[in-house]
Formats: sequence, C-alpha cells, structure tokens
Amino acid sequence: MLYDNLGINEKGHLTIGGIDAVTLAEEFGAPLYVLDEDRVRANCRTYVQALAEYMPAGSYPLFAGKALCFKGLYPVLKEEGMGADVVSPGEIYTALAGGFPAERLYFHGNNKTDEDILYAMDNGVGHFIVDNHHELERVNRYAGEKGIKQKVLLRVTPGIDPHTLQAINTGRIDCQFGVPIETGQAARFVQAAVGMENLDVLGFHSHIGSQIFEAEPFCDAVDILLAFADEMRQVLGFTVRVLNLGGGFGVRYQETDPVVDIPGNIKALSEHLKAGCAARNYPVPQVLLEPGRSIVADAGVTLYRVGGVKTIEGYRSYITVNGGMTDNPRYALYQAPYTVLPADRMNDQRNFVCTVAGRCCESGDLIQENIRMPEAKRDDLIAVLTTGAYNFTMSSNYNRLCRPALVMLRGGKARLAVRRQTFEDLVACDL
Ligand code: LLP
Repeated sequence: MLYDNLGINEKGHLTIGGIDAVTLAEEFGAPLYVLDEDRVRANCRTYVQALAEYMPAGSYPLFAGKALCFKGLYPVLKEEGMGADVVSPGEIYTALAGGFPAERLYFHGNNKTDEDILYAMDNGVGHFIVDNHHELERVNRYAGEKGIKQKVLLRVTPGIDPHTLQAINTGRIDCQFGVPIETGQAARFVQAAVGMENLDVLGFHSHIGSQIFEAEPFCDAVDILLAFADEMRQVLGFTVRVLNLGGGFGVRYQETDPVVDIPGNIKALSEHLKAGCAARNYPVPQVLLEPGRSIVADAGVTLYRVGGVKTIEGYRSYITVNGGMTDNPRYALYQAPYTVLPADRMNDQRNFVCTVAGRCCESGDLIQENIRMPEAKRDDLIAVLTTGAYNFTMSSNYNRLCRPALVMLRGGKARLAVRRQTFEDLVACDL
C-alpha cells in the first residue's frame, strides 16, 4: 500500500483510516472526496515539531490553502498550531469562517486589488506577502489611512530551478511572481519598502517550486537569500527577522516515488541556514515554510463508480467513471501520475490494462492511462489515491456537473464536511 493509513479488510475492500471505502460510497455517494483528518493532523505535527526542534524560536509552518480550502479544515489547522497562507479574499473568508485567527494568516498573490488589500486589513490579516512595487505602495497607503503598521514579507525570486514540472515552477527569474534578485530589482524593492513608514518589513519570502524531494534546492535558495540579505544589511542597515521559504516538499503519487524525510530535510536546511548565518555573522532568522501538498495530498482518496468498459478493438480499453477532470483536472493539465485501485475487490488479479476516463465532453478527460485493474464492470468502486491536494480546489462545474461531497475521517468515524452540490447550486447565481 502506498500509505500506512490504507488497508484491505476481510471483504477484500479498501479501507481508509480503518473505514471501508465501499461503506463510505454507499453512505455519502460517489464521486466522493475522502480526507483522513488523522493523517492531516499527523502531517501538520511533523512540520510543527521539526520546525520547533531545528529552527529558531517562532519558526512554524503555514498551510497553503491553494492545495485544499474549506471551512472545516481550518479548526484542524488551528488546533495543530499551523499558520495559513491565503491567496485571495475568498480564502481569507473561508479561513475566518472556520475560526482561524487572522493574525496567523499570510496574504499572498501577485495581483491583490485595492478591494483585496482593504478586505484583508479590515479583517486583521496579520501579514502581507508583498509581490511588487504597486502593491507595496498601496499597502503602505491604506495602512497609513487606517493608522496601522502592517507587517509584511517581500517576495523575491532567487532564480532556482528545482528541476520540476515547468508549470508548477515559480522560483525562476522569468516568472510573474515576486521580484528577481539577480537583475537588481529586488534591491530597489527592499529599499523602497524599508523607507515606508506604515510597514513593518519582517523579511523575505521565496517559493522555488513544487514536488521537491530533497533539501538541496531549498539550501541553494537559502544561499542566495542570505547573500542578498547580507548585502541589504550593508547597504540599508536592514536585518531580516523572518525568512519564508515557501512550500514544495513532494508526496508519493505512485510506488516509484521516493519517501520524503521531512524532519531530516528540515534539519539539513536548518544546519545549512545556521552555517550560512554564522559565516556572515548574521542573526539566524525565524523560518516559515508553506507546505500545501505534503499536508493534505496523502490524506485524500477519491471514490468513483464505474459506468462501464469500452474496448476500442485494436487500440485500448477505457473504464469510465462518474467524475473526472471536473473533480481532478491534474492528469488533463499535467499528465500527473496517480495510483488507481479497485476499492471493492482489492484481492482480485489485476490483468486488465486500461485507461480510466471521466465523463466530460473532452477527449483529454482522463484520470490515468495504461494501468492494471481487474476486469471492470458497471457499478464497481474505484479509488484514486493521493487526491487531497489540488483536486477539490481545482474542481469545476464543466458540463454542469455537481462538485462531489467531501467527508472527513477521524478516529474511525466519518463526517460530512462539504455537502455535494445540487442542481439548485448550479443555477444559484444565474439571474
Ligand atoms: N507557497 C507558495 C507561494 C506557492 O505558490 C505554493 C504552490 C505553495 C506555497 C504550496 O506548495 P506545495 O507545498 O503544495 O507544493 N496546481 C499545481 C500546484 C501549483 C502550486 C502552486 N504553488 C498542482 O496541481 O500540482
């Protein structure tokens, strides 16, 4: 099994967090997003504990809500001592609706509108991660009007390529996020920021990419950020107190993916950071990380019902499921790998080579190609693993399909956290 929270029971059914997947689908319907809350909590603790143990006091992880965002998740994050990275007023609203403390929110985004900035300030969002000069000027202006000193981090790009998928690689120089160090623009950005009277500039942020399996690219980023910080100290007398290194640790989608040693990587990163600071006689800053995928991905499983099997003679066989790119667009977008399992007959021989297709009117609507399954039939239950990140949040109503429900599992019990959309929901905004 890909993860130790998955099992097979005496009926040959897949179990998730000890609960029978077939029972879940019968009770809550399919397609269904299943999220093992115990697993989410364990993943949070791994980060919280490693950062507390190896990094300076005040270091802690922020959960990146772009990976998964619904009200019921935020009490869990709060209880586990996480902060949260939010990228839009909608994410801020959701976090606050879930009772999350505004002070622990870090507001991202490369194009925050004036309305967004005011909304965040009016709701007491603790930190802005400022992306560019325009935003800097507006945040300073509105903070002044409101008589507050806004805490900010400045997003800079260290120009690291962590050898990952192009589409989810944001640390390179040529990208729309942040301000590049190498071109000299970041120096001017910092200079402008530290001269603004309504801002409390805590430090820098950088995000180098996603699905990264080792500490090395983060260490490379630290080298560049520290050299830059040192330069800014000499030129401006400005000292970085907080270094936010973004998200990006990888997860296992398939058996061939490596297991990431998160505490080990954080320890290595901390040693690298401390050595770099010592070499420059620089005070070691607090470290923030923004894991999204590695907090929720492996806690998620999607369950689908099979509609049928279609063999195109001389070509291939398709299994069609009652969801697809509307609940998981990641294969259509990135040819993302997944592990697909026959949830209701896990012990059957898997000799049938097939492609799992969704139900949308789009030939690219596939979940996975050329996998091995038992010979399938209508009403079988299929599980796709590691769907906790970037599935629910990237879902759509294409073809006017209703978004699935999401159930959370805790201590062997399931509860509905997001109800399935209805047809009324689909027309709710239509006048
Ligand atoms: N912080 C920042 C500033 C980010 O841009 C991201 C992800 C994260 C944190 C969280 O990274 P994670 O730990 O989840 O790798 N839709 C794509 C992923 C896009 C990620 C964008 N930024 C996917 O489905 O793979």
